[in-house]
Amino acid sequence: MFLYVANWKMEMSFDKAVEFCKDNFDGFIGLSQLESKKVILCPEFTQLKAVLDVFGGNGNDIMALGAQDCSEHKPGAYTGQVLAESLGQIGCNYCIVGHSERRIYGSETSDQVACKLVRLFECGITPIVCIGESKEDYENGLAKDVLQEQLEPIWEVVKAVITRKGGGKSGKRLSFCIAYEPVWSIGTGITPENSYIQEIFNFIVSLAKNNTINAQINLLYGGSVDERKVKSLKLIDNLGGFLLGGASLDFKKFEKIVQL
Ligand code: PGA
Repeated sequence: MFLYVANWKMEMSFDKAVEFCKDNFDGFIGLSQLESKKVILCPEFTQLKAVLDVFGGNGNDIMALGAQDCSEHKPGAYTGQVLAESLGQIGCNYCIVGHSERRIYGSETSDQVACKLVRLFECGITPIVCIGESKEDYENGLAKDVLQEQLEPIWEVVKAVITRKGGGKSGKRLSFCIAYEPVWSIGTGITPENSYIQEIFNFIVSLAKNNTINAQINLLYGGSVDERKVKSLKLIDNLGGFLLGGASLDFKKFEKIVQL
C-alpha cells in the first residue's frame, strides 16, 4: 500500500474542513478506491469525527483517518491534552507524532515522541513518526547525527513493545511509519535530490537493522511534495508514501498526486 498522508495542520477552520470534504466528496471516494493506494486524512482534533461523518464510515472502510498528535500520557490530569485511546474510539487508524512543528513550537523531545508511540501501539493506532534535520544541521553535515538521535528512543520503545506483547495489539508484526521530513524542505518549495533522500532512507534502514528491529517500517517522504515532483520522487527505493502539507489543501493538486 502506498500512503498519501494529508496533513491539514491548522490550515482550515472546522466549517471549512467539513465544506472541503463535502465539496470534494466524490473525488475523495474515488481516491479511496484506488488499488494499492491509501489516502489518510489528518485534520485537526476538533474536525476528526466530523470528517469521518461526512464519509459515513468508521475509518477502516471508507476513508482512513489520522490525528496530528496525541498525548504521551495515560488517562490523568493533563489539561488540554488528547488521549490516544479516544482517538482510536472515534475512528483514527493513524496518528502523526513528532512533526517538526510540534518539536519547534511545542518543544517536544524525542523521548516524548517515543512515549506517544507506546500509547498508540497500546490502542492499535499506527504511528507516523516524523524525523528531520534543520537547515543549520543540514548545512553543517549533521543530518545523520540528528536523525540517529531522534530515532534512538524510538528503537528502544519499539523493541520493548515487541518483547512485551509479542508484537503489537493483535499479536501480528508491529507496524509503523517513519516520515523523513527535512525541516528546510517543509513549506519552502525546496525538495532534496533523490540521491540525498535515498541516502537517508538507506541510513534509516541500516539503523533499524543494527538495532534488530523486527517490525514492519513504512518509509515516507515529506517536504514540498507537489504534482510536478511526484513521478521522480517515486523512483526512490523503499519509498512507501508521502506526507503532504500544502499540496493536500488543494483538492485538484492532491488528486493528481495520488493518481500519478
Ligand atoms: P509541505 O508540508 O508539504 O507543505 O512542505 C509537509 C509537512 O509538514 O508534513
